[in-house]
Amino acid sequence: MRDATKTAVAEQPIEELALEREVAADEVVVLDFGGQYSQLIARRVRELGVFSELLPHTVGIDEIRRRRPKGLILSGGPASVYAEGAPRLEPALLELGTPVLGICYGMQAIVLTEGGRVEGAEIGEFGRSRLTVSEPGRLLAGTPAEQACWMSHRDTVYAAPPGFTALASSSESPVAALEDTERDIYGIQFHPEVVHTPYGQHILTTFLEEICGCERTWSAASIIEEQIAAIRAQVGDGRVICGLSGGVDSSVAALLVHRAVGDQLTCVFVDHGLMRHKEGEQVIAAFRDHFKVPLVAVDAEDRFLARLRGVSEPEAKRKAIGAEFIRVFEEEARRLGDAKYLVQGTLYSDVIESGGGNGAATIKSHHNVGGLPDDLEFELVEPLRALFKDEVRAVGAELGLPERLVWRQPFPGPGLAIRVVGGEATKQRLDTLRHADAILQDEIRRAGLYRELWQSFCVLPDVRTVGVQGDERTYGYVVAIRAVTSDDAMTADWARLPYDLLERIASRMINEIREVNRVVLDITSKPPGTIEWE
Ligand code: XMP
Repeated sequence: MRDATKTAVAEQPIEELALEREVAADEVVVLDFGGQYSQLIARRVRELGVFSELLPHTVGIDEIRRRRPKGLILSGGPASVYAEGAPRLEPALLELGTPVLGICYGMQAIVLTEGGRVEGAEIGEFGRSRLTVSEPGRLLAGTPAEQACWMSHRDTVYAAPPGFTALASSSESPVAALEDTERDIYGIQFHPEVVHTPYGQHILTTFLEEICGCERTWSAASIIEEQIAAIRAQVGDGRVICGLSGGVDSSVAALLVHRAVGDQLTCVFVDHGLMRHKEGEQVIAAFRDHFKVPLVAVDAEDRFLARLRGVSEPEAKRKAIGAEFIRVFEEEARRLGDAKYLVQGTLYSDVIESGGGNGAATIKSHHNVGGLPDDLEFELVEPLRALFKDEVRAVGAELGLPERLVWRQPFPGPGLAIRVVGGEATKQRLDTLRHADAILQDEIRRAGLYRELWQSFCVLPDVRTVGVQGDERTYGYVVAIRAVTSDDAMTADWARLPYDLLERIASRMINEIREVNRVVLDITSKPPGTIEWE
């Protein structure tokens, strides 16, 4: 893809990316050339039952050999193959004897390496396009002669390299798919991983099953046994501690570790008083009462509120909460004495994106809040390092985690404190906000929309407005409703909630919460807005 908005796995040291796996399942490696959808390719392959890892294109042939993949996929990328510093394809990768599929940039790189004709075109091809298949060959077998596909490129392949057969074209791409079945090298200009390519899954399945000979046996749940064994091997009879936040990642990580080492694990849940209605109770009920996981629940509301007194600037709030969180957690860890291991709910997307650091401005100091400092003297246990978020949910469901926790929308570490905006997060304001938020969640769940939304929440500005209720003038708080759809929080769109739902929410808030006399809807997308107001 040309429009790379994300940092790719690019230059990360391989030790940080490597997943230690003891699985027999087949693996296909996706080499990342910087494309916007590289992660999605790996996810699609996994959805088709084949384990897949995303590695930087610079990883080197030895590392790939070590993994013994059944297939290699070369991703798209934002560069022109002729651009200075454009990512290069190591020609030896085509000689491994492992089937290779190049997608978009990946195909262009193959064509360039193999002596075909690829050139920058005057007219690019972006979005929906029609593909005409002249010769289905192996790769496009079983797909129609005319089909839709999704394109995003300017460099275009005009002639297939010697030994290759051109399979298809589109209006702007004389060669939109090609193959050399002798050497098992394949290329497609379009993106099979996006939903706008209706035969995309079919083509990927053909590559995985027919061409690579993969057995489609992998599933997120199959990682449970593997991880339990890995955790036992790492931890032995040592003591383990886990900070539970109520979010799906830490919950699933904690449950996996508990399955592995039972009561050697103690979870610490710091209730900072900035959670939503009944959230703390739900975490305690699930872990302590239902799963019988040893759990220390610390009611630290007073401490956090004291820390937040007089603080109204957003970053100052985050810092105060972050610092207090670490203090409370350390106190508890000390009390538990001899814990040597710390569980973290690090996900695969954290692993492959943490390379970032290319001078991006700090918009909000997210990752320092609610997290723990690097110098804590624990060895990390990270059982979710190989999984994408939706896979973590599948594992959570398999482990019997309640639906509410499995599907919980993301919630920021500093909690409601950064949703009392433009002023101090006092107990009274937090309670008002919590009440409004409970009504919103209740109505959104009832309307069956909770899972469709990336996040839905209320914001309480430190502003009062005039109203009239029962013939009396009121001077009350205004609540803003924020509901967004998103795939990854990098960009987001405001959700078009139905009017009658909005009306019900607004009237319930005003009727049920004495302090509130006005409700507004935030219709800003991201960018230019951010999801949270602070
Ligand atoms: P923004 O507001 O930057 O948020 O569009 C993107 C995502 O990050 C969450 N967020 C936070 N998460 N600590 C967190 O753990 C924070 O300080 C924080 N601030 C924002 C936000 O809810 C959204 O999902």
